[in-house]
Amino acid sequence: MKITKAVIPAAGLGTRFLPATKAVPKEMLPIVDTPTLQYIIEEAAKSGIEDILIITGRGKRAIEDHFDKSYELETELARAGKHDYIEGLEHISSLANIHYVRQKQALGLGHAILCAKSFVGNAPFAVLLGDDIVHSETPCLKQMIDVYDKYGSSVLGVQEVAREDISKYGIVDAVPVEKNIHRVQGMVEKPNPENAPSNIAVLGRYIITPEIFTLLENTKPGAGGEIQLTDALCALAGMQPVYSSIFDGKRYDVGSKIGFLQATVEYALRREDIGAQFKEYLKTVIGDTKC
Ligand code: G1P
Repeated sequence: MKITKAVIPAAGLGTRFLPATKAVPKEMLPIVDTPTLQYIIEEAAKSGIEDILIITGRGKRAIEDHFDKSYELETELARAGKHDYIEGLEHISSLANIHYVRQKQALGLGHAILCAKSFVGNAPFAVLLGDDIVHSETPCLKQMIDVYDKYGSSVLGVQEVAREDISKYGIVDAVPVEKNIHRVQGMVEKPNPENAPSNIAVLGRYIITPEIFTLLENTKPGAGGEIQLTDALCALAGMQPVYSSIFDGKRYDVGSKIGFLQATVEYALRREDIGAQFKEYLKTVIGDTKC
């Protein structure tokens, strides 16, 4: 079955970026000049996704405005002859069909995904987490869809992480099947490194079969008192094959301040318009004791 639907949870409070996120959704914070959420939606669109459900919450209206058509702005830009900008704006509003639902209570990632039940229906679907941005030649989600097309089962996007980072992620217990592909036997959300089954972490990209919804309905609060997607996926792996796929690409944790800064610097350096100039600037600033 072709994967055409994706779900993006975006209801989090963005506490780690206060005060910036007091009035601005964290998903709208820009890497250079583009909101983090736009990078995620561009990845989904380039991977063949046609319909995207964004799980939002109170105070997130700027997201809907951003992906809508902006008649007034486009008219003003046309009057000023700024046609390049208009193309950029049209690109944003034509990326995919975007749908919204609100998660009324912050009960965890598993609960957020459960809000997508009627949107998804009875077909496998993709999940992309907004805190994980991946720079890669082939879009990360496309790599996952290729694995799904081969195995016809749920696929989790993973990479190895350093021991000190294990407790930040969902960690898989998995046996190798072929290069970069493992069959998942179990999963633990944010384990201590001493008890972790491996250092292979789920990094915000999933293809999931619809059986997950019944499991989520029966999932009790887990790590952090939240309904965890990881726990429902662990139960799914006990019922049907679930694979993990080590994807190619550099992944940034834009949900942390350091990850956000790393992404900002590296995306800026890759830009044709400002990259060279920014690199020269960085050279002068590194080692400047007054900074
Ligand atoms: C979530 C998931 C976790 C996953 C991580 C990837 O955690 O619960 O399993 O490894 O995203 O970024 P969060 O970062 O929302 O706490």
